Amino acid sequence: MNSKIKKILSKKNKTKIICLTSYTKNFSEILDKYTDIILVGDSLGSVLYSFNSTKKVNINMMIEHSKSVRQGVKKSLMVVDMPYNTYKNKIEALKNAKKIIKYTKADAVKLEGGKKIINIIDHLRKNKINVMGHLGILPQSQKGKFRYKGKTSFERKNLLTDAQLLQKSGVFSIVLECIATKLAKKITQELKIPTIGIGSSVNCDGQVLVTDDLIGLNLTKIKFVKSFKNIRKHIELAIKKFSSDVKKKNTLQENTVIKFI
Ligand code: KIV
Repeated sequence: MNSKIKKILSKKNKTKIICLTSYTKNFSEILDKYTDIILVGDSLGSVLYSFNSTKKVNINMMIEHSKSVRQGVKKSLMVVDMPYNTYKNKIEALKNAKKIIKYTKADAVKLEGGKKIINIIDHLRKNKINVMGHLGILPQSQKGKFRYKGKTSFERKNLLTDAQLLQKSGVFSIVLECIATKLAKKITQELKIPTIGIGSSVNCDGQVLVTDDLIGLNLTKIKFVKSFKNIRKHIELAIKKFSSDVKKKNTLQENTVIKFI
């Protein structure tokens, strides 16, 4: 087993797991000091490209961003989302997962869903692909408004079964997105593998957020997203200063040495 995955597994019931998204090298270099997992999420579709759905993200976009991310990741486990339509059946899933891993050197891929994709995950695992699961709100198949999962006993039963099936199929961890507090707690307690929550309460084994949301670069109104900084303000101040320096002919002193590497 990949030593980084072993490390993630060993944190269950001991210390919280930190997971953040990254789409570029510069971000990964900063995150890597503090994260256990860096996720190249297909959220890049909405965050970077203003798509109204992650369904518009394709495999080449994921590969190019992941190649950039890879350059900044040293110690964290790097996980890449398999985008919509790339794991319709086990043959395509394996072909695409291998392609992602070959070009990006990712440690694992993440797939959305429960029992419907168990045969696909089984096939990936048989072929030694490390897989992270994702339950709750599934942006790739979401129809209509996003709402919390696990409010009815039917949903609770299905989600718990899905989590158990995913664990049995060999995923090393599961993202729980917007799952009601009690159910997130129950799933976390019942599983041996760690759960990583997003909007699913503090009871999960770890937490994930979209980095652009948490630093206030991406303007979002999602309720559970806490913005820890308004980085837009700092960027704006730097741009404003540059603009005023240029106007004052103040950017480069005549004797400034510009180093070309
Ligand atoms: O695409 C993504 O960034 C994700 C996280 C929000 C879990 O799947």
